[in-house]
Order: sequence, then structure tokens, then C-alpha cells
Amino acid sequence: MSATHATVAPSDIQPVAVKPRFRDNAWMDATTYDALYARSIDGPDTFWREQSQRLHWRQPPTQIRDIRWDKNDLHIRWFADGQLNAAENCIDRHLSAHADRVALYWEPDTPGEARVITYAALHQQVCKLANVLKHLGVRKGDRVTIYLPMIPEAVFAMLACARIGAIHSVVFGGFSPEAVAGRIADCGSSLVITADAGLRGGREIPLKANVDAALARPEAKAASKVLVVQHTGGAVDWHDGRDLWYHDLMATASEQCEPAVMNAEDPLFILYTSGSTGKPKGVLHTTGGYLTYASLTHQMVFDYHPGDIYWCTADVGWITGHTYLVYGPLANGATCVMSEGLPNWPDAARLGQIIDKFKVNTLYTAPTAIRALMAAGDGPLAQSRRDSLKLLATAGEPINPAAWHWFHDSVGHGGSAVVDTWWQTETGGVMITPLPGAHATKPGAAMRPFFGIRPALVDNDGTLIDGPGEGNLVILDSWPAQARTLWGDHQRFIDTYFTTFPGTYCSGDGARRDADGDYWITGRVDDVINVSGHRMGTAEIESALVSHPAVAEAAVVGYPHEIKGQGIYVYVSLTCDHSPSDELYAELRQWVRREIGAIATPDLIHWAPGLPKTRSGKIMRRILRKIAANEHDSLGDVSTLAEPAVVPQLVETRMNR
Ligand code: WT7
Repeated sequence: MSATHATVAPSDIQPVAVKPRFRDNAWMDATTYDALYARSIDGPDTFWREQSQRLHWRQPPTQIRDIRWDKNDLHIRWFADGQLNAAENCIDRHLSAHADRVALYWEPDTPGEARVITYAALHQQVCKLANVLKHLGVRKGDRVTIYLPMIPEAVFAMLACARIGAIHSVVFGGFSPEAVAGRIADCGSSLVITADAGLRGGREIPLKANVDAALARPEAKAASKVLVVQHTGGAVDWHDGRDLWYHDLMATASEQCEPAVMNAEDPLFILYTSGSTGKPKGVLHTTGGYLTYASLTHQMVFDYHPGDIYWCTADVGWITGHTYLVYGPLANGATCVMSEGLPNWPDAARLGQIIDKFKVNTLYTAPTAIRALMAAGDGPLAQSRRDSLKLLATAGEPINPAAWHWFHDSVGHGGSAVVDTWWQTETGGVMITPLPGAHATKPGAAMRPFFGIRPALVDNDGTLIDGPGEGNLVILDSWPAQARTLWGDHQRFIDTYFTTFPGTYCSGDGARRDADGDYWITGRVDDVINVSGHRMGTAEIESALVSHPAVAEAAVVGYPHEIKGQGIYVYVSLTCDHSPSDELYAELRQWVRREIGAIATPDLIHWAPGLPKTRSGKIMRRILRKIAANEHDSLGDVSTLAEPAVVPQLVETRMNR
């Protein structure tokens, strides 16, 4: 175990009681949660059959679970004989009663007029776009890459794919052309949907130019069409025969489009995420189980009641944007706020202003955003009232108690429930979370398993840990939103998640369970780091670095960073014909940025004459992490290293920074 996050001893922390106004109205109280949780574990077939009924099925499922977590024969099937369409569930079925209800309020990057999209308008846009996709030759099962900024067209595009049974792969707008090309190549997308440019914090992101650069690479040749949304109106290069304006094709598209009837286990989307080794993994989610779970968790975790205004700040390029900006809330007929920009731009008052503007009841965001706002103090909050808030939620990384308290006391006036939700791209939805109304929360704890989830802790030998303790966080049984495979690499899926601790799903996180049975996530136990809530494989950054001619060897670790949670710390050994300089420092940062994207830019580069290695040549990251974190007293035994002398050298150069 080598969790990298500093955590607090649970005994220091006092639980914060359920808010009275929650207790009276919440879906869950403690007794109901206990009873329902027990039922979900003791009789999963009955529980999930009932829960599936929250969706509209063309053919209701009779088969509920068909699960085998055996590394020689692994399959995961939920509701396998059911038939449905995800877009129909997110739009059409709300039309008879709520056509005029707002589905999306869109807030532009620069404060200004919002776009308001009702369910009726959403239906119209999605049907038209679905027809455009069909016209471009996209068929059921084809892959479509979506590389858009945070604009409503991103939601239309996802749902239009779902409507015709195409599989979307949304690529975060911050990724580089190289990263886009790799993701197009891996899933063989024939179509890319992008925009002229994106806007974030007043900066333009040249999405179309990035797509041009991506498609110039030989590996991305499968993509023969590019559909371009005109967003900023800036100039773009144009490739006749390949590039098409979104507004041109939408102008003449029909508003009639029957949803394709899909099997519950037909793929809904692929979403790439970083692993501890190799290239990004194309996590595959299917239709029926994912949507059931997205809808149920959205209702219970956020205590969603019809009429609530719900704002999730996550980008659609991440799983949080998929499940809790699009599929979960829309399946429940919710009104969502979608914001293009950053919650602290043009200044730290923006978050509160947006809350007031739309009378937001529920805010779901990342600890890193909270810490960034907290750094500006309480002053900017005075520019808003925020009295519509009922519930505040966080995800993506551990929340430190100071940020938790500021969120609770200052943003929420102490009157809102705060829920810290633990989950992953692979889990599809929230797994461990307090349920507002049921659980007093402990700042920094993810608390309790959601219905149907059986978490456990195992030591490094795979032995189950009973009672209070700390270990590797595993899940003992399947849940409907579990990823089914990695696109094109089922073996890697098995090797990554089901081989380390046979018979369980291995999350890659460490956790602690306290005497009350509540869970505290301590951070990754593998070579994945979490920077501003963005998950990154250190191996990916290392391979970008060593592709630079000056770099002989590189090792990347996370280190504690006040705002980002973890920062990117890079040890670089140069080839003999290069020596450290400020220019090279800047160049290497720029290099990684160009190879992967801005989120992967190293925070600190440490020129290392040598790296600590075992005699068999394995880099000792444990030691590198400690040095990066300035924890020099606890380096452990270094005598078995091939060249123990490099350690004091690195410590000394670290201290002098
Ligand atoms: C990794 C998954 C939450 C979905 C979006 C991120 C870390 C996630 C928490 C939390 C502590 C958390 C884990 C996990 N993480 N939520 N509440 N407390 N750590 O999905 O990009 O797949 O990243 O984020 O390390 O494994 P992702």
C-alpha cells in the first residue's frame, strides 16, 4: 500500500448531523436506508428488478443478473433480455407532462444571457441531430468522437448518438491533438463532432485546429467526416468534402426520429481514462444497467425532488459529466445548469452569482474548485445570497476537512447537507456516499455504500480485513453500472480489475474503515495520480517526457499541492549531451502539454543525476514520492538499492528548491 494522500485521523473529526430541513423531506432516513440496503444485498434480483422499473422499457427485462467474475471466463450482464433507448428515457417520456420544463440552463463563459432549453426543445434538437448523423452514414454500433466545449450541443450530440444506437466517445476539450488521434484510432470513429473553438476562463481553445492536427496523423484516418459547431465564430481552416457545418445540416434536418430499440447490453458509450500503465483505457458502458443506476443514484445521492434546480460543474469529457450532468438527471426529468466556464472566472464571486441566477438547490463540484475559491476568502461570497442551496456534493478526490468546512459553513451558510461521493469512470455511478437525510456526515469521509454495493478492504495478500482497518478497497459483487469491458481489450479489463484480488473488483484505491463502519478514501495505491480531480497515469507522462531528445529517463509522482490536491512532480535524467537550464525546464513543460494536454503539465521538474532503482532495475517510486513530499525522515530502507548514494543527492537537491 502506498497511498499518496495525506489524511486525517478519523477520531479527530466530529460528525455533522443531518440538517433538520432535510430530515423532514428527504427520500431516506437512517432506518429506511438500513432496511433498503439490507434488502439490496440479500435479494439483489428483486431489488434491481424493482429499480429497473424507474425506466421506460420497450421490453421489460425478465433476466436481472448474469455475472461471472472469473479471470478465465469473465462476463457482466444486467437486464440482458430487456430493450430500451437511453435518449427516449432522458427526453421523450417526460414530454407528455413536462414538455415546457427546462432541461438545461446554459451559462456562458463570460457572464451574459443564458440559453434556456426545455425538454421539448431538447427533443427537437436531438431528433434533428440524430437525423444528421444518419445522413452522414452513422449506423447502430458505429463510434462517434465528440470533442466539444461545455455547450448544449455536447449534450445534444451524446443523446443523438444514443437515439440511433451509435456509441459516443467524448474526449475532454483540454486534450491535445495527439491524445485525440489516439482515442479516435483506438475505437475507430468515423465521425468527429467538434466546434470552431471553446472558451474557458476567457481563453480560446482551438478545438477545430486540434482536430485538423489529429486527423493529419495516420492513425486517425478512420475519421472521414468532421461536423463543426460554430461557437465563437472565429476563423478555421476548412477541408472540403470532410468538414461540414453543424448549422447547415441542422437547418434542413427533420424533427422526426424514432429512437432505435436497443438491447440493455448494447454499448452506450466509451470513455477513455488513464491507467497505471500503457495507453488510456476505453471504458465501455452499456445501456440498461448504466441508466438504471444513473437515475437511482441521482435521485438518492442528491435527494433530487421534482422541481429542484441542479448544477453539476463537471465537464462532459469526464464520467461525472456523463452520469450526473446528462444521463442521471435527464432520466429523472431534472432541470440542470450547465456552465461553460470556470466557477472562479472572471472572479471568485462567479460561483455564488450563478447559484443565485438560477436559484440552484444542488451543487455538485470538485474539491479542487472549492480550494481555489477558498483561497480568495469569504469576501467574494458577499456578492451572492446562495439561499436556494439545499445540498452540496463533491467528487473526484479526497476532500480535506478545511475545504469541507468552508464549503459547508461559508458557501452553504451551514444550512446545506454536504455529501462526498466516491466512485470512478469504471463504476459508472456513485458507490460510497452519505445519503442526505440518513447519515450524519464526517468531513473527509465518503461514508457508506450505496444500495447494492458491497465494499470490502483486503490486505496486500488479498485477505479480507474485518472491522476497523485500512487496506485496498475492493467490491465483492457486481452492480448495474459497472463497466463491461475495455474497448477492444477484454483481457486488459480482466487483468486490471479482476486478477490482483481474485473474485473481487479491484478499485486501485486505498481506504480506511472506522469503528462505525464508515469509509475514508486514502488515495490511489497504483501509479495513477489525481490532479485537480483529473486522473492521470504517471506512465503516460513519463512516455511523453522520454520522447524528448534531451531526456534519458523520467519518473513521475504526485506530491501534495494546496489547490490541486496533487501536483505533478517529475524527476528527469538528461542525456549526456544536455545539461539543466531554465529554457529546457520550460521546454519540457511545454512538450508534455503538447503531447497530452494542459492538465498534464508538470508542476515541478527535478533534475536528477540518477534515479533510485532496485538491483533488477525497477524504479523505487515509493522513495521518489517521499522525497517529492518532503518526507525525508521516512524513506525506509534504501540499502538494497543498486546505487544507494542517489537518495541523499536527491534529498539535498529537493531541499534546496
Ligand atoms: C478516482 C477515479 C468521482 C468520479 C469522477 C472521477 C478518486 C473519486 C473520490 C472521493 C477520494 C476520490 C479515486 C478514484 N476519487 N472520488 N470522493 N474521495 N477519492 O473519476 O477520473 O475515474 O477517477 O478518483 O482515486 O479511483 P475518475
